[in-house]
Amino acid sequence: MKGGLLLLASGIFLLQGACGCPERCHCHSSSSSVDCSQQGLLEIPSDLPPQTQTLHLQDNQIHQLPAFAFRAVPQLTTLNLYNNSLSHLAPGAFRGLRQLQVLNLTQNSLHSLESRVFHSLPQLKELDLSSNNLRHLPTSLGEPWKNLTVFAVQQNQLRQLDRALLESMPRVRLLFLKDNLWKCNCHLLGLKLWLEKFIYKGGLMDGVICMSPDTWKGKDLLQIPHELYQPCPLASPNLESSGMLRPGSSPQTVPRPPDSHSECQLKPKPRPTNLRHAVATVVITGVVCGVVCLMILASTIYGCTYAVLTAQCHGGPPAPPNEPAKTEGKKLLDSSPA
Ligand SMILES: *[C@@H]1O[C@H](CO)[C@@H](O)[C@H](O)[C@H]1NC(C)=O
Ligand SMILES: *[C@@H]1O[C@H](CO)[C@@H](O)[C@H](O)[C@H]1NC(C)=O
Ligand SMILES: *[C@@H]1O[C@H](CO)[C@@H](O)[C@H](O)[C@H]1NC(C)=O
Repeated sequence: MKGGLLLLASGIFLLQGACGCPERCHCHSSSSSVDCSQQGLLEIPSDLPPQTQTLHLQDNQIHQLPAFAFRAVPQLTTLNLYNNSLSHLAPGAFRGLRQLQVLNLTQNSLHSLESRVFHSLPQLKELDLSSNNLRHLPTSLGEPWKNLTVFAVQQNQLRQLDRALLESMPRVRLLFLKDNLWKCNCHLLGLKLWLEKFIYKGGLMDGVICMSPDTWKGKDLLQIPHELYQPCPLASPNLESSGMLRPGSSPQTVPRPPDSHSECQLKPKPRPTNLRHAVATVVITGVVCGVVCLMILASTIYGCTYAVLTAQCHGGPPAPPNEPAKTEGKKLLDSSPA
């Protein structure tokens, strides 16, 4: 009886030793961790021990994660996928990892994320998406992450970050945002305001350095004064919330161009249009006045000249004698004595 149990136990032990650890991995049962790093893996090993809590998959060439990729290891708390070739994450790739606390996706080739890809990771504390090719982040990455304290997206190609995404991480304390293509226009004003509050409450971050427009290239977003931002046209949340949209227009249909160049460029204090109008008015008035003055002057000169000439005519030497009258008179005189 006892021998049989022993045999069974050792059989189970042997079985675990034989197929409990994937071929190219090192399993440390005491720490429940499995190390499959630097093995040239192209996909997730299929026979991972179900009790695995820490999984090292860094420095491989894993290029895709199918849905439920980690179905076999539901107890995972730390997953390291640093330095792989991931370019796309299937929406349900991390489904079932309800204990996951650290997810490291640094140095892959991700260029976009679907909004539900990190859904159902309620315990997530650290998410590292640094050194990818992300151009855009969704406004929401699933339900609020009540426990997320570290969020890293440095060294990507982000131009904007919606503050709604940060608002879904109420406990975040450490943010890595540097080395992106931050475009410091009105769309980044929300982020600036959020970050100011974040730092005020004791949060730590590395900095948002503007890459465009040229006026602000190299400047820190937080150093640019608020008044230099022009409000975004229409779709700005301020307008929506204060009901300033026209009653007929629906906020959903308002296009929200992520890269609109024309309307919402951050400009260095433009000359107010009023001032420009005023200047134009003054110039036009000046010209008109000048012309009128010249005309008045001309007519005055003409008038004076005329007056002088007329005056000379009346007050000057007497008019020449009326020859015919005189002759007539002479004739009369001459004829009277006769
Ligand atoms: C990334 O992994 C490859 C092996 O897949 C390795 O040769 C390379 O040195 C690693 N790069 C870094 C920066 O660790
Ligand atoms: C992810 O891995 C990289 C490389 O090992 C490391 O520098 C970084 O701190 C890790 N991120 C987290 C959140 O642990
Ligand atoms: C956050 O973490 C604590 C323990 O660190 C845990 O008790 C709690 O359930 C977690 N919150 C959520 C929303 O999962």
